[in-house]
Amino acid sequence: MEIFDLTGRIAVVTGSTKGLGENSAMALAKAGADVAICGRNTDDLKRVSQAIKDMGRDSDGFILDVTSKKSVQEGVLRILDRFGKIDILVNNAGLNHREQVVDYPEEAWDLVINTNLKGYFLVAQAVAPHMLDRGYGKVINMSSILGKIALPNQLAYASAKGGVEQMTKIMALEWAKQGIRVNAIGPTYFETEMVKPIRNDPERFNFINTRTPMGRWGYLPEMEGIVIFLAAPASDFITGQTIYIDGGWTIA
Ligand SMILES: NC(=O)c1ccc[n+]([C@@H]2O[C@H](COP(=O)([O-])OP(=O)(O)OC[C@H]3O[C@@H](n4cnc5c(N)ncnc54)[C@H](OP(=O)(O)O)[C@@H]3O)[C@@H](O)[C@H]2O)c1
Repeated sequence: MEIFDLTGRIAVVTGSTKGLGENSAMALAKAGADVAICGRNTDDLKRVSQAIKDMGRDSDGFILDVTSKKSVQEGVLRILDRFGKIDILVNNAGLNHREQVVDYPEEAWDLVINTNLKGYFLVAQAVAPHMLDRGYGKVINMSSILGKIALPNQLAYASAKGGVEQMTKIMALEWAKQGIRVNAIGPTYFETEMVKPIRNDPERFNFINTRTPMGRWGYLPEMEGIVIFLAAPASDFITGQTIYIDGGWTIA
């Protein structure tokens, strides 16, 4: 299936040392891409890039903290030095702090916004000039159902994800005629470290099941198809969209 083939493509996935980022990196490699693994923990970087090499693809780990412009710029330069180009960028690194608005600490607001919103901008801004020079690129921004719907205690996270969806449209517009497609994915709850506190609380776990038309959380392998699709030629005429992968949550 050529339209889903990523052979020869170089992908960069931020926050790919665990969770949805690691899953996305493995999915892109399954479809043929070589992948730059990015994160802050050297052991995890080695583990994930080795897993990709074991699949017969090229890979390496890069320290890249998305909250630091310097780290982002240096990381992107090192990736370009190592692989020669970047075809696919998955902006994925993220974290959350859950608390009511009246108690929400300013430091937590700054950290969540700097990671989940400003971080996406900094990485896209560092990568885009190279994509624009080559007239080709696929940018995938990891949003959330919380980019569209609201839940209590999600002040900064939902604000960031709503921003990511608008950011996706602006980038898509500015680069539409230059071969760069920019889209977002809006997942519901998938079992990762970030959502462990919710997974381990039967009341909150079941709230999500009940709230979802399909009656359950997502399974990690169910994220693979959308990542490959948005990175591959199959989605070449799609830009500026957020695709929700949520068992129907956002339509109910
Ligand atoms: N899991 C879900 O249910 C769900 C649902 C909707 C959307 N999402 C989104 O999916 C993305 C990944 O979430 P996840 O659930 O996979 O979380 P996770 O398992 O906690 O993984 C988060 C990843 O982001 C990295 N990261 C955090 N801060 C970073 C920074 N400043 N610079 C570079 N990397 C950083 C972490 O690296 P370290 O190991 O260095 O901390 C880790 O690799 C996030 O954008 C999240 O909002 C998740």
